[in-house]
Parts: sequence; structure tokens; C-alpha cells
Amino acid sequence: MNIQSNFSLKAYNTFGIDAKASYFLEINSIEDLRKAFQLDTYPKKFIISGGSNMLITQHIDALVLHINIKGIEVVQETDEEVILKIMAGENWHQMVMYTLDKGYGGLENMSLIPGNTGTAPIQNIGAYGVELKDIFVRCEAMDVETQTLKTFTKEDCKFGYRDSIFKNEVKGKYVITSVTLQLTKRNHKKNTSYGAIEAKLKENNIIDPSIKDISNAVIAIRQEKLPDPKVLGNSGSFFKNPVLDRENFTSFIEKNPHAPFYKISESEYKIPAGWLIEQCGFKGKRFDDAGVHKNQALVLVNHGNATGEEILKLAFRIIKEVKEVFGIDIVPEVNIIK
Ligand code: EPU
Repeated sequence: MNIQSNFSLKAYNTFGIDAKASYFLEINSIEDLRKAFQLDTYPKKFIISGGSNMLITQHIDALVLHINIKGIEVVQETDEEVILKIMAGENWHQMVMYTLDKGYGGLENMSLIPGNTGTAPIQNIGAYGVELKDIFVRCEAMDVETQTLKTFTKEDCKFGYRDSIFKNEVKGKYVITSVTLQLTKRNHKKNTSYGAIEAKLKENNIIDPSIKDISNAVIAIRQEKLPDPKVLGNSGSFFKNPVLDRENFTSFIEKNPHAPFYKISESEYKIPAGWLIEQCGFKGKRFDDAGVHKNQALVLVNHGNATGEEILKLAFRIIKEVKEVFGIDIVPEVNIIK
């Protein structure tokens, strides 16, 4: 086992934070993972996968296990549908491109999301009207105490908006090793109702889009709005969009009649945190190397050498300001490692 010490995690988190881990080990198989958890010499273990949804704010005094388990396999197939088992270390976007090249539908709206497949269930990733739960069948995860594999069905996962059982009841108790998804081979359920997709397809004169056209539209929209982590460190949306009950929503919209919102149900309304943050004047602002992206205020960025602490300080400043101006609490979506 090639355990490295005092290892920089800069290349392993999309914020590009130059924090170090006491020890680091690459995990290439389920067997590697099992053996790693049995290493008593390193009592504290810490899992890192795509590193796309975390803000590291200090040295990680643990054995960091980097999940790099690869493989995609067809587990069931009919003329209509295919069920794929994808190992946790597969890069999400490359996997989406693979499915589209095969003509499988279901993931096109979730093109170009950074990170690895194994972490997608933790926060039920979603974009442009589709969430992981819409095509999710089950996932397998290793119990860190017993090193046995357990299957979690869709119901077991208790998916919500950027939420699942893995963020709550079983947090830290399992490491997801594979994800099984159900995709269509024909009669694809295309979802183009999201405003930005409709506009992009229209701009390109596409009336009856293929799944590849939808993917291309999503990629173009994301490239316009969201910074490429390879160029500018970031973790996608830093905050969740707050959900207001009817009463709070009514008083909010009376005071802010031009605010965008999504009606979730008769009693729940989601307000784009990016809009709230922009109204507070933060869009494009920079405080040393910690900043707010110029095209999407929901995204915090590392202009080069920001520390996790500096990004976190900016996040707290934004939370406070949004609360003062709108009376609304916004909460981070990314996992803050303290
Ligand atoms: N808006 C502003 N100013 C901004 C940003 C947004 O006024 O700086 C307004 C937009 O004009 C629009 C509304 O807010 O009216 C929504 O913006 P957008 O379509 O960019 O989506 P979002 O609600 O900000 C969510 C997800 C994204 C996902 C997009 C598209 C969350 C926390 N974020 O963002 O997910 O790509 O919808 O579906 O739900 C991520 O989780 O990392 C992520 C990027």
C-alpha cells in the first residue's frame, strides 16, 4: 500500500485549496477500501472523491482515502431501457458522455456537473429540471465499521432537494462504492421546459431536440454561467436556494415584486439565492483571492491562493448580509471541512 504523508490536496478539491492531509492513499478497488478501513495504524480516515462539493478549511489530520474505483457495466437491458452499474470513482461528466454516445437518455440535463458518480447520491445532484433521483435505482455502500456492502434502494436514500440519508441519519457511516441508474434506449423523457434550455435550443433553431442536443444546450449554458474549476477554483453553487412557506413568501414577494421564484407546491416557494446575493451587491466582488463569480452569484471562487478560511469568511459575510436585507437564512450546500 502506497501511503503518502504530508500530502497536498490542491489537485483533489475543485476549489483548489492548498490544504494538506497527514496521510493519503489511492483506492482503486473495493478490496483496497476494505483493507484501508482495517488499518489500525491510522485510526482517523477521511474520504475524498471528486472533491467538487467541499471546502477544506484546515489541515486534515487523517488518512485520506481517494476513491478511484472505476468501471461501468450493463446489469439489465430490454429494447426500451438499460440499467447501468457505475463504480463510484467514474467521473460524472465522462460517464454522462458515455451514456449519450450509446444513445441512452436520462442524464442529458445533468451534463458537465463536476465530481464523481459515487458522490452524486449524497446530495441528490440536479440541474435544469432533472435530479439524480429521477433515474436512480440503487447504490451500494461500504459500512465503515464492518466493511460489508449494503444496498440502498431509492426509498432508502430519502432523497430531497440537495439532500439524502447520506447527509443525515447515516452521515459518515458508509462510503458509496457504486450507483445503479435506469436509462432509456428510446421514447426518451425529454425535459426541455427549463427556461434557459428552451432559450438555448431556440437560439440554435432546434425544434425537436435529440438527447445530445439537450446535452449540448446544457453544456453551453453551464459554460456561460459557471466557471470551469480547472481555470477558476469553485464548488458550483455554494448555497442552497432557500425555500419559503406561503406566509413568508407572500410578504417577501410584496416587498420584492420582481424577484424570480419557483413554486414547488401550494405551500413552498424556492427563491434563487443567486438573486438574493446579487441584490446585496456581491456579484463579481473580490476580497483578496476569495470572490463571488461574475456571472452567477451563487458560486464562490478561489482566484488563486485563497485559503478555505478566507472563502468561509466571505460565505459568512454573505449569509449575514442576505439575512439583514431580506430576513432570509441561506445555508451552504457544500460540505465544509473543519
Ligand atoms: N440569478 C440572479 N443572479 C445571479 C444568479 C442567478 O439573478 O447571480 C437568477 C437568475 O436570473 C434566474 C435564477 O436566479 O432567474 C436562477 O438561476 P439559475 O438558473 O442559474 O439557477 P440557480 O437556482 O441559481 C440551481 C442549482 C444549480 C443548477 C441550476 C440549474 C442549486 C443550489 N443550484 O441554480 O446547481 O445548475 O439551478 O438547474 O439548486 C450546483 O448545485 O452546484 C449547481 C450549479
